[in-house]
Amino acid sequence: MDVLGIDIGGSGIKGAPVDVKEGTLAAERLRIPTPQPAKPEGVTEVVSQIVEHFSWKGPVGVTFPGVVVNGVVRTAANVHRSWVGVDAGKLFGGARVLNDADAAGLAEATFGEGRGRDGVVIMLTFGTGIGSAVFTDGRLVPNTELGHLELNGKDAERRASDKAREDHELSWDKWAERVEEYLKHVEMLFSPSLFIIGGGVSKKADKFLPHVRIDTPVVPARLQNEAGIIGAALMAAPAQAGAVPAR
Ligand code: BGC
Repeated sequence: MDVLGIDIGGSGIKGAPVDVKEGTLAAERLRIPTPQPAKPEGVTEVVSQIVEHFSWKGPVGVTFPGVVVNGVVRTAANVHRSWVGVDAGKLFGGARVLNDADAAGLAEATFGEGRGRDGVVIMLTFGTGIGSAVFTDGRLVPNTELGHLELNGKDAERRASDKAREDHELSWDKWAERVEEYLKHVEMLFSPSLFIIGGGVSKKADKFLPHVRIDTPVVPARLQNEAGIIGAALMAAPAQAGAVPAR
């Protein structure tokens, strides 16, 4: 069965029908630039454009880069403040809405690196912010927000996100030091058995992962660009679709 997955990011909103049993895109994805500022009205307009583009009538899953509880947005660190308190599920016509890192983590835990892994597995996405998805024996603990842990008196994502690397023009080695420091902090708190590194920067893992020295195994995500779309669709799939998120 196919479910439409839509991934709301800081620069682009991407969507595609997803074969939720296989974890693959069932059609070429459509990407539309995120309206700036990314306020509810403009973003909703793009989400409906994507639904219309695929003439979609079935279930829809949408990611959001903030805390989402029962479809309601609770935080908006990197999008417009006016999102806080908005029932995004309602706004998007009854779509299932979940945190972006949780979606990417679900896809990765179901079809990628985290597949079949017991114990505590943590996916961290490095982009404009740092997103987190925590799994215990394949089950997601949603909205963990580990990107906002305090590190040296600062919000961790301000120091170690990919945006921080670009903003401060850090070399890969220098940035890797910050990533290492951050991972060690998370390791101290959770003692995971695996870290999965996601976000656009995971494509360049060979540039920084060799410089990250930490006891816990660290691997780049396998699904990369499509993880958010696939995870959103998985979350919205009805039980009879045969999609089994994570396990
Ligand atoms: C937000 C998270 C989000 C992450 C990645 C953080 O600033 O608080 O909810 O998952 O950025 O987009």
